[in-house]
Amino acid sequence: MQDLKKLEKEAEKAIIEAADEAVLRDVEIKFLGRKGTLTSVLRGLKDLSEKKRRELGPKANTLRVKLETSIGEKRYDLRKKELNARLKKEWIDISRPGIKTAQGHLHPLTASLREITSIFHSLGFDAVVGPEIETEWYNFDALNIPSDHPARDLWDTFWLRQDKKSAIKEKLLLRTHTSPVQIRFMGKNQPPLRIIVPGKVFRNDASDATHDIEFYQVEGLMVDKEISVANFKEIIQVFFEKFFSSGGGSAFSVKGGPASGRGGKEKINIRLRPSFFPFTEPSFEIDLKFPGSKRWLEVAGAGMVHPNVFKNSGLNPKHWRGFAFGFGVDRLCMMKYKISDIRLLHSSDPRFLKQF
Ligand code: PHE
Repeated sequence: MQDLKKLEKEAEKAIIEAADEAVLRDVEIKFLGRKGTLTSVLRGLKDLSEKKRRELGPKANTLRVKLETSIGEKRYDLRKKELNARLKKEWIDISRPGIKTAQGHLHPLTASLREITSIFHSLGFDAVVGPEIETEWYNFDALNIPSDHPARDLWDTFWLRQDKKSAIKEKLLLRTHTSPVQIRFMGKNQPPLRIIVPGKVFRNDASDATHDIEFYQVEGLMVDKEISVANFKEIIQVFFEKFFSSGGGSAFSVKGGPASGRGGKEKINIRLRPSFFPFTEPSFEIDLKFPGSKRWLEVAGAGMVHPNVFKNSGLNPKHWRGFAFGFGVDRLCMMKYKISDIRLLHSSDPRFLKQF
């Protein structure tokens, strides 16, 4: 009896003190396991006298049930405690805003080139390309710019160093404009035709905020029987309206650039100013003025295709008429996205690029 009381005290203490389920399991084995202390007491009952057995038996059995109950309750408590701790630790605030994943995007120049191409496509112009390394003939002579013509000074050219033993006898250069593709295309295709030529051009010139040694141009050419300056004016007006009425805008501002949020409802003013290019006659500069601005911005060169250009392309100038134009994509892109320095466009500076 004494031992049973001692055993009960010892067991209850161990159960209360068990810090986790593993300890509790050990306590259970110690007292109630196959070789457990209480189990051996219960086993030993059969060796006692009947009187003692009757006295001790029910007590030992009651204690077994009591201990089993205590262990069960303790296990339940421990599990509840552990669960609560986990719930606290793994709590998720489902009302928190999500983490934004970084998304790639087009470079403003690429976006501009694609948009220009798509606008002209909607006006029936196909985009064609030509080589960046050109011959002197296509870049100058065929465009009515002979070697002694003062107009050659307009373009500071990157001439290529050439091996005297090379099979290529023509003088090679990095094209200074996209106009040579006019000759290349008309040499292979009969009018009527409508093309644009997006591409990179090169000028051997000091670079500053508005000039770079390489930049993009888009050439335009439309040839048919009855083409006039009026056709050109309409095409270029529609183009600028569309180009400047969509998207754009950034932290970099350019004076006289398009005001943001105009929605393209007000008309962009366009004027043609007499000018000179050897490959067009008459020739003009195209100036553009945004609604609310006082400043005219020079954006393109253009004119009616010169008879010599038709001749040099193998077309009869008596049969065909056409207009041609060329503008700098970087400039238009800068105006649209309000970029203050052309060099940023080729800088690959992430602080700049991140804004678009
Ligand atoms: N090629 C000229 C330039 O680079 C632009 C131009 C193109 C002018 C077509 C007239 C016609 O400045």
